[in-house]
Amino acid sequence: MSATTTPVASLLTDADFKVALYIVAFSLFIYGLSGLTGPKTAVRGNRIAAVGMVIAVIATLLVDPFHNTALIVIGSAIGFAIGVPAAQKVKMTAMPQMVALFNGVGGGAVALIAWAEFRTTNGFEFTSTYVVIFSLFSLLIGSISFWGSNVAFGKLQELITGSPVTLGPLQLPVQALVGLGAIACTVAIAAGSTSEILIIGALVLAALFGLLLVLPIGGADMPVVISLLNAFTGLAAAAAGVALDNQALIVAGMIVGASGTILTQQMAIAMNRTIISVIAGGFGGGGGEAAAGPTGAGGGTVRATSASDVAIQMAYARLVVVVPGYGMAVSQAQHAVKEMANLLEEKGVEVKYAIHPVAGRMPGHMNVLLAEADVPYDQLKEMDDINGEFKRTDVSLVIGANDVTNPDARNKADSPIYGMPILNVDESQSTIVLKRSMSSGYAGIDNPLFVDPKTSMLFGDAKASVEAITEELKAL
Ligand code: TAP
Repeated sequence: MSATTTPVASLLTDADFKVALYIVAFSLFIYGLSGLTGPKTAVRGNRIAAVGMVIAVIATLLVDPFHNTALIVIGSAIGFAIGVPAAQKVKMTAMPQMVALFNGVGGGAVALIAWAEFRTTNGFEFTSTYVVIFSLFSLLIGSISFWGSNVAFGKLQELITGSPVTLGPLQLPVQALVGLGAIACTVAIAAGSTSEILIIGALVLAALFGLLLVLPIGGADMPVVISLLNAFTGLAAAAAGVALDNQALIVAGMIVGASGTILTQQMAIAMNRTIISVIAGGFGGGGGEAAAGPTGAGGGTVRATSASDVAIQMAYARLVVVVPGYGMAVSQAQHAVKEMANLLEEKGVEVKYAIHPVAGRMPGHMNVLLAEADVPYDQLKEMDDINGEFKRTDVSLVIGANDVTNPDARNKADSPIYGMPILNVDESQSTIVLKRSMSSGYAGIDNPLFVDPKTSMLFGDAKASVEAITEELKAL
């Protein structure tokens, strides 16, 4: 300590003080994360975790006084200027691609840190073996995650086709060759080579591997893939944390890695698919086809109805179950739905909401939208809780949901979604489906529910249809 150093300055730059601040930061991450388990506490949880991250960043900067402050400030300002408006402006329906993009940036940053370490240490000269191994691991996984996430973003944003893109029979051999090539480069570096060509080779081959991994996967599976890549980025960050001896990076990386892994698995279970079958690709394409008109899936007859008929049917019902799906998110109908439900309740109708775990395009999508519209949380029923109630439901009002109500998942063994647990809407006394046409949902398949004799279709944008029903209810 120099003669001019004050006790406060020496505390601030003390390594133990940094660790103490990190512990405060981790506690806030974990406490904040526990808030994300419910819509009521989610926003607060997010803010608490963000405060934890600010503390972790400050702790890191305090202890190393030799960093280039100007560069860090410029970098942070650029990140802030791009990230904050993008996150504020993004539509709820575009959230998965935003997560993909931000996740990819994290993976890319970790890969670049590993490359920078290689350069500043003259090719890991005099560096412990474990540091070299963890650095190279983070370089490979970070690069795969960056490029894979960008493909996922491109597919969801429809910048590239949502259909699987493969090299046909060459896909697996080429992928294996590229993967082995990337590993060979890193093994050579770990064995002592200081050639920069090798580390660039590892980065490029891992990038190719990331592209080859995600391009063959159909658009429908992108949310699962994004969650998987999120887990990859977390692991890469944790490995970088070990290499840099940075506890904050290790803990934050492991939290992301573990939560991404659990989320991926839960989504796969909700769709009755294995993670391997998701990675093998070929499912879904982005939806859209299927015939419009009086004849629907399998040639059955489609019964179109009107807002006034729907209003009458629901006003005299005892129990109405609202089944929201991706279309409700697209049309942003949640506030209109809440207003309609209020009117029904005033008329003595019981209203519940059936929430499928993969309705919409991201985990918790429907819960978030309905919470935004102040729908009471106790009216939101998980799939397993509501499925037993459909038999006593007078009217199921399906609002822009499709795949999650498709009885083929239960009944048709050769259906691509066979085995996926669904909401048993077809068991209710009557079903009204609000959608714009007879188009398919994300899985790209017909839905026999729409031609069920107990089903009527109210065609149009979901929000406009719900508002029209509400007007009719007011007039009753
Ligand atoms: P989908 O099966 O995708 O169907 C949505 C329906 O909404 C479409 O058929 C569409 O029909 C209708 N729609 C779109 N815009 C509309 C609008 N403005 N007004 C009214 N209707 C509109 O949705 P789902 O039932 O929610 O199922 C989700 C799908 O995503 C499942 O296949 C699931 O496996 C997949 N997925 C979800 C997740 C997560 S985490 N949520 C993860 C991976 C995969 P029209 O075009 O005729 O209107």
